[in-house]
Amino acid sequence: MEPMQSRHLIDLDDLSVAEWEEITRLACDIREHMDDYYGVCRGRILATLFYEPSTRTQMSFQTAMLRLGGRIIGFDNPANSSVSKGESLKDTVRVVSGYSDIIAMRHPTAGAAKAASLYSRVPVINAGDGGHLHPTQTLTDLVTLRNEKGTFDGLCIGLCGDLKNGRTVHSLIKAMAGFPGNRFVLISTKKLGVPAYIKDFLSAAGCPWQEVDSLSEAMPLLDVLYMTRIQRERFDSPEEYERQKGVYILDAAKMKAAKKDLVVLHPLPRVDEIAIEVDDDPRAKYFEQTEYGLYARMALMMKMLENAHKELPVPPKGVDALCANPGCITHQEPYLPHTFRKSGDLLVCDYCDERTLL
Ligand code: CP
Repeated sequence: MEPMQSRHLIDLDDLSVAEWEEITRLACDIREHMDDYYGVCRGRILATLFYEPSTRTQMSFQTAMLRLGGRIIGFDNPANSSVSKGESLKDTVRVVSGYSDIIAMRHPTAGAAKAASLYSRVPVINAGDGGHLHPTQTLTDLVTLRNEKGTFDGLCIGLCGDLKNGRTVHSLIKAMAGFPGNRFVLISTKKLGVPAYIKDFLSAAGCPWQEVDSLSEAMPLLDVLYMTRIQRERFDSPEEYERQKGVYILDAAKMKAAKKDLVVLHPLPRVDEIAIEVDDDPRAKYFEQTEYGLYARMALMMKMLENAHKELPVPPKGVDALCANPGCITHQEPYLPHTFRKSGDLLVCDYCDERTLL
C-alpha cells in the first residue's frame, strides 16, 4: 500500500477516491481473513477521546485496535477527565498525543476534530464532530455497499430523515458523489433538509438530485435507502423536536413498494424510524453495517499508522474574521486561528464549512 497523502482523517477529502477504494478492499480482506491481521499494530496505542456518547463508533475503534494486537486508552465521558476542570481541547490533545500513536475523537461541536489536528503529535481521526461530518461512518457505509450491493456506481440513493443534522448523511453524499452515475433523492421535511453547502456540492459535482417529502413515493425509485434518526440533541427546543419526530417510519408496507435488491442502511442508533418488523427483511442490512464498521476501522488505522511519526505541527496563522456559525468550535476555543478558504464569492470556514459572502 502507498502511504496516505494526508496525516489526519478529518473530512472525506483527506482521502482520494483511490484511497477510499483501497481501504474498502482491505476491509473486505480483513473480514475474510481476520486472524491474519492480528499483531499488525502490536505495540501501538489508540486513544479514544469521546466528548459525546457513542456505542458503535467507540467500541468498534477499540475492538479494531485490540484485534490488530494494539492497546487502547481514553475517556468516554469528559466529566471523568480534566475537561471537567476547564482544560482546553488544545491541551488535552497535546497531552494525549504524547501517550498514544493515533487518536479517534468525537465531539459535539462542528470543527473540533480539525481543531484537534492542529495540536496533535499523532494522526487524528474524526469520529463525529457535532452535526458536521462522520467520515468513518462513511467508510463503514462504503464497505457495506461494496459487500451488499457490489458497486459504488450508477445507484439511486435515497436519504431520509434528519438530513440537516445528520453528519453521516453529509459525509455519505460527499463520498458517493465521487463515483460515476449516482443520483440522490433527499427525503425530509422542509425544516430538516440538507444544508445548502451539500446541495451546492452535489450540483458542482454534476450529480442529479431532488428533494421530496414523501418516503412512500420515493421507495420504488431507490437502490439504496439510508434512514436516519431525528437528532433530538441538536434541536434548539424540545417542542421543535416533538414537531419533527415520527414523520418518517419505514415499515413492512412501505418495503412492499421497493425494489427486490434494495439495500436499507442506517448508521444507528434508531429510535422509531424503522419498524422492528423490517429487521427480518433480507434487504435490511443495518446490523451487518455495524460489523463492517469494525473491518473498516481496522483497515483505516492500519493505513494511517503505516508511515506515522510523532511531530508537533505548527498551527497556521489566522485572519481577523469570525466564522458566522455560532456552533463552530472557533467560538468555543478562543485561541484557535480563524482560517478560511475562498470558493467563488464565498468565504468558507476551514473548521465547520460555514459559508459567508465576501
Ligand atoms: N453510527 C454511530 O455513530 O453510532 P454511535 O453513535 O453509537 O457511535
